[in-house]
Amino acid sequence: CGIVGFIGNNDSKEILLKGLEKLEYRGYDSAGIAVMNEDGVQVFKEKGRIADLRSIVEEDVLANTGIGHTRWATHGVPSTVNAHPHQSTTSRYTLVHNGVIENYDLLKREYLQGVALESDTDTEIIVQLIDLFAKEGLSTEEAFRKTLGLLKGSYAIALLDEENKETIFVAKNKSPLLVGLGEDFNVVASDAMAMLQVTNQYVELMDKEIVIVQKDQVTIQNMNGETISRDPYTAELDASDIEKGTYPHYMLKEIDEQPLVTRKIIQAYQNDSGNLTIDEEIISAVNDADRIYIVAAGTSYHAGLVGKQFIEKLAKIPVEVHIASEFGYNMPILSEKPLFIFISQSGETADSRAVLVNVTKLGYKTLTVTNVPGSTLSREADYTLLLHAGPEIAVASTKAYTAQLAVLAILAEVAGASKGFKHEFDLVQELGIVANGMEVLCDAKEEFEDIARSFLSTTRNAFFIGRGIDYYVGLEGSLKLKEISYIQAEGFAGGELKHGTIALIENGTPIIALATQESVNLSIRGNVKEVVARGANPCIISMKGLEMDGDTFIIPEVHELLTPLISVIPLQLIAYYAALHRDCDVDKPRNLAKSVTVE
Ligand code: G6P
Repeated sequence: CGIVGFIGNNDSKEILLKGLEKLEYRGYDSAGIAVMNEDGVQVFKEKGRIADLRSIVEEDVLANTGIGHTRWATHGVPSTVNAHPHQSTTSRYTLVHNGVIENYDLLKREYLQGVALESDTDTEIIVQLIDLFAKEGLSTEEAFRKTLGLLKGSYAIALLDEENKETIFVAKNKSPLLVGLGEDFNVVASDAMAMLQVTNQYVELMDKEIVIVQKDQVTIQNMNGETISRDPYTAELDASDIEKGTYPHYMLKEIDEQPLVTRKIIQAYQNDSGNLTIDEEIISAVNDADRIYIVAAGTSYHAGLVGKQFIEKLAKIPVEVHIASEFGYNMPILSEKPLFIFISQSGETADSRAVLVNVTKLGYKTLTVTNVPGSTLSREADYTLLLHAGPEIAVASTKAYTAQLAVLAILAEVAGASKGFKHEFDLVQELGIVANGMEVLCDAKEEFEDIARSFLSTTRNAFFIGRGIDYYVGLEGSLKLKEISYIQAEGFAGGELKHGTIALIENGTPIIALATQESVNLSIRGNVKEVVARGANPCIISMKGLEMDGDTFIIPEVHELLTPLISVIPLQLIAYYAALHRDCDVDKPRNLAKSVTVE
């Protein structure tokens, strides 16, 4: 979910709606705003997208203060009633919330027996508790503070009090939240992107802080009421980076940006003499480790699987790759000197953050590889490596994945080189070849559109196979396809499909096979034959030099270790066109959110 708030002299509703449009990537199953003026507070909420909300917001409502929310449902189905803002039964208090209140049921039973709740959300409990404590005689600030003290879980909250029209009350724990500063106005947002339209000056908030936001003053306090001073920073985002320009979808724009991003990464990690370089402290942390634990979710987890190959081959350090949400209760036996690497496009994924907090408590060193400077995972880890990919807006990750691979390859190479390992290739040059290869693939869109049309336009399911590093790319290809086209897609190690899943192969079932590795070229082709013998419709993507008669597409040749950086592009484009031809919402697939800030 994402939240916004505005207090100042302008018409707040338009600023809030525009802000929510920029936050839609965080969830988009329902949305709402509340605006406050002399007449009181008015709430507008609607199931669906911000565009649906916009259509019900009355044009002539003028208010200088307001809050807004775009939702990714956790407690309660997506519906107008469950959409935020939520109000207390007296309507005095109105609140938006991002996060999950774990003890909401307990609080409900203990404090709110007599209160008729309107929604199924955990959020409504918060606003009703504040109202309850205010009725018992506490000031709003005291009631807010007391309520926060009772909450277990994660929250970013903005609260309006009808009897205190000069203030937005704000608090944060675990969920991201920023306060933006302006002349005669101030704003609140889950992400700076939302309010770039009005300011680029932001103050970071830390967990368990409460902020009193007024139009000409922002007061940050800790839970004990002590005031904290913190300087603002300038959000280095360019408003044009977050527009899609002439592209029909962000996803296509972001796929096309991959050659440029790869070149930017080479530059960002090069020193004046053209050699790859990474902060020495980070390299010592890597080389001091006897084992590296990569922790991530979704596409970033798939990048981690490839990253393991890079680090083990180039720096010769053993690596384990773990799904963040599993790691918490399934922690492996750790080595003596572990280093944790968190891979996260957004730097906000709650599952990854939970692990980071835990291993930090245990005293281990941590490194975050992220696209977002200043993000929670970046701030809280010992070290950060940036992806330099620019904002990624489409929910399905593309350029962040290849950027993660490029940065992990550089990390592995520099760590290996500092231990004196000589490699037979020059990574700067090889990544340059990769960027050129990416360009060739991005220029071949029509061919991928044809492949998507002929293989995937009506199918129910599809399988991706590959061996070794191709297998990991297949996992990412299948995730891309399923998340945006809703085709049930699975990735398998070439030899594994026959151990069960081959039962699902029917006449015409699409099998997308990757063949970019010489050592397994014949074996993967053997696996293709096995499924073709059972009726499958094969699409073989091979690398130049390894192609054979009947291959569907041949990708340009790059160094064997770096093939994932380019073999993923056909899979991204095929997924894109499959979704397009199946009339799916490419950039905002159902049920998903780009940044999942709940565990
Ligand atoms: C969500 C997104 C995925 C993403 C994953 C991890 O589930 O829908 O596309 O890969 O989170 O996100 P992160 O920002 O940590 O890379």
